[in-house]
Amino acid sequence: MKKIVILTVAILLVTTGMSLAIISGSRHDMTKFTSNAAARMSACQYCHTPHHANTANPGGDGAAPLWNRRMPTGSTYSVYGGGTTLSSTTVNQPGTHSMTCLSCHDGTIGLGDVFTGTPETLSGPDSYGNALTGIGAISATSTKINFGVNLTREHPVGLAYRSSAVNASTLAGLRPGPFTNGVILTGKKWKIYGGNDGTGRVECGSCHDPHGADRVAGGPTAPFLKDTKSTMCIDCHSLK
Ligand code: HEC
Ligand code: HEC
Ligand code: HEC
Ligand code: HEC
Repeated sequence: MKKIVILTVAILLVTTGMSLAIISGSRHDMTKFTSNAAARMSACQYCHTPHHANTANPGGDGAAPLWNRRMPTGSTYSVYGGGTTLSSTTVNQPGTHSMTCLSCHDGTIGLGDVFTGTPETLSGPDSYGNALTGIGAISATSTKINFGVNLTREHPVGLAYRSSAVNASTLAGLRPGPFTNGVILTGKKWKIYGGNDGTGRVECGSCHDPHGADRVAGGPTAPFLKDTKSTMCIDCHSLK
């Protein structure tokens, strides 16, 4: 019995260490920036908290897990296609699983400005060589990672995946559902939030995993993607 307990603890330590190792050293490890706080938070706490989490659910597509950041509230985003795709699907304001990302990537909130706990002001250069702003947010000069409030040039988010209406090769040619657990295609990880085919939404998290998946096969040019990018477009747009 004792052996089993020791073994379980050992496995837990190893696996916890491994997950931290995935964030650690990745571009999502905020501990690489300088902080004004004497005692730093853990790398996970810049995004998660074990208690008193933010349960905001802006898209109605499910709260983010134990989320420790505010969701941007002062921003109205310009959305893809002015609000409609070529196949007449409505593009809404980004939902929860995009707002998590935009809480850093729209440049309006400091990276260390957490929801629960003592906020930190971070400083120092990002990997594009641009210093964080005074409030410790991503610089507007780093245009690849600071999206601002203009999402018109990005793949649409905040919209329903509705293959029945958008299935011809002349349209967006979406693969039909239903999906298991919102995940499109067995063995792939692209995810649909808050519902199945017809109602579930495509958000930033459909394609990206913020936890160090930048090291997945496919290499450094697959930044935090949930899977290799070689087939990703036709995994969803299978009729194209
Ligand atoms: C840069 C922000 C960020 C950091 C740092 C971060 N996470 Fe997350 N985490 C997220 C987001 C965003 C989600 C929600 C993903 C989604 O929308 O599907 C998430 C989801 C999760 C989940 C839910 C399961 C899942 O993957 O959907 C767990 C568990 C988790 N994170 C653990 C951790 C741990 C442990 C750490 C520290 C080693 C950590 N996270 C660091 C942003 C972060
Ligand atoms: C705590 C703030 C924070 C959150 C939350 C966050 N990011 Fe980031 N992310 C950053 C920072 C800061 C960088 C750049 C670090 C650097 O360049 O040194 C970055 C880098 C990236 C990169 C790599 C860019 C490149 O040029 O290689 C991608 C991709 C990315 N983030 C996507 C996301 C997505 C998608 C989400 C939501 C699921 C998310 N991030 C959530 C802060 C965050
Ligand atoms: C349909 C899938 C998809 C969605 C949705 C998506 N991305 Fe990406 N993203 C990608 C791919 C693929 C790349 C890699 C592009 C490359 O390597 O040329 C990428 C690259 C990035 C980068 C790296 C910088 C760059 O220009 O290469 C950042 C930062 C990023 N995404 C953030 C986001 C954020 C924030 C959202 C939500 C607003 C989002 N992504 C939604 C697929 C997606
Ligand atoms: C997670 C599923 C998913 C992935 C992966 C994905 N898309 Fe999409 N894409 C969609 C959905 C859903 C729409 C909206 C279709 C509609 O209803 O009009 C869309 C729309 C589009 C549109 C059409 C916009 C319009 O105005 O009609 C283009 C172009 C597009 N995607 C290209 C890509 C490319 C290129 C990739 C790979 C980098 C990609 N998509 C990956 C789900 C996805």
